[in-house]
Amino acid sequence: MEYLSVEEFAKKCEISERRVRTLLKENRIEGVIFKSGRYLIPSNAKKPSDLRVRFNKEVTHISQNSEVDFRTYKKHYPDENGYFGKYGGSFVNKDLQKAFDEVYSGYLTICKSAKFVSELRRIRKEFQGRPTPVYHCERLSNYLGKVQIYLKREDLNHTGSHKLNHCMGEALLAKYLNKKKLIAETGAGSHGVAVATAAAYFGLECEVHMGITDIKKQAPNVARMKILGTKVIPVSDGEGTLKEAVDSAFAAYAKDYKNSFYCMGSVVGPHPFPLMVRDFQEVIGIEAKEQFRDMTGELPDVVTACVGGGSNSIGMFEAFLNEPVDIIGVEPLGKGKEIGQNAASACYGKEGILHGFKSLMLQNENGDPANAYSIASGLDYPSVGPEHAFLHDIGRIKYDTINDEDALEAFKLLSRLEGIIPAIESAHAVAYAIKYARTHHSGSVLVCLSGRGDKDIDFLLEKYPDFLN
Ligand SMILES: Cc1ncc(COP(=O)(O)O)c(C=O)c1O
Repeated sequence: MEYLSVEEFAKKCEISERRVRTLLKENRIEGVIFKSGRYLIPSNAKKPSDLRVRFNKEVTHISQNSEVDFRTYKKHYPDENGYFGKYGGSFVNKDLQKAFDEVYSGYLTICKSAKFVSELRRIRKEFQGRPTPVYHCERLSNYLGKVQIYLKREDLNHTGSHKLNHCMGEALLAKYLNKKKLIAETGAGSHGVAVATAAAYFGLECEVHMGITDIKKQAPNVARMKILGTKVIPVSDGEGTLKEAVDSAFAAYAKDYKNSFYCMGSVVGPHPFPLMVRDFQEVIGIEAKEQFRDMTGELPDVVTACVGGGSNSIGMFEAFLNEPVDIIGVEPLGKGKEIGQNAASACYGKEGILHGFKSLMLQNENGDPANAYSIASGLDYPSVGPEHAFLHDIGRIKYDTINDEDALEAFKLLSRLEGIIPAIESAHAVAYAIKYARTHHSGSVLVCLSGRGDKDIDFLLEKYPDFLN
């Protein structure tokens, strides 16, 4: 038997020597001999990724789940009526149903055509700057211990968040359907800026509805939308946040659906939006899986992302559903567990219907949608995409929570140790990775960094004047 040194084995597998040493410590390479202070690795030892299933005993969700075959998952979920198990569907009036049927038919024919796909690919490469990189946070990882933290850099996608991935797809479909105007809702303004950008790119009119609370919190994004030529409609009903913005945008669309296209901001809403937005977002996970493998020679132990409506997370998770990887959706715990203090709909919600789809929903004592709260406007929504509700119920994805305080700590740590200012939404996912690193002795966490934090700076400094200390 021939043996290789750590250096030679690292070269052969195209991974770092440090990674090889970690794998050796975890006994994840077979047949290794330790002699005179040196590791000797059999030259025919397999690449570590091939060994993962056997060694990581905790990762058993896939085989445990007899109900769903993840190899063919996308073919069956959602079904033709937009259902993921009991969640999803379309609960809208006849006129709107007609409009959404047209969108679904366009999605099945136009979006699947070679012409559409090649046009979208070119836009992603030349206009959006894709693929976005995966980045190893070496300083943050070393500061916390031994777990290695990686980021999928959607903050580097054009406009500074993942939202442009589905907006360019939706707007391209609108153009093919001969629509003249885009209508949308927004919470943090990231989706609003992305829709406004897509409208400018395709020469379409654009109207974005936004709650007055969020307009104050996310002023830089409001200015960006206006510069891009979009009309921002302030919504003062209720809490003046995302839920009311959706109500207002739906009402405007109902009046003008023949001329307009509704650009849904997440994997929520009536069928076909949870399907269509997911498919436009899955580029995140497809790229990330390949990039992570290229960098490390294996898959991450954990993949995580923040969950508002659920688009960046579904986009990240889809490519990993059939892999031996733990998947964690991070919801905002806000100020606490009580109703009205958080927006953790998958964790604390009950089955209900809101904005035309059935999912898990935070409810008050009368069964109505409860007020949601999060420091992050983009996570401040009392429901979650129906696919998340389904994957939650069957246990393939675990959902955990992070409160405002821990998200703020993550915001600061990532800024100071890595030179990356995250969106406060994305900071929730980073906070989960930090929590994991503090409680585990080895492994890797791949985080979807859904957006950049420029939009949050004014609000945070005003609300937390001591923040910079
Ligand atoms: C940067 C960023 N990340 C995440 C989200 C949450 O949305 P979703 O769960 O659809 O990814 C938002 C919403 O506005 C956002 O702006």
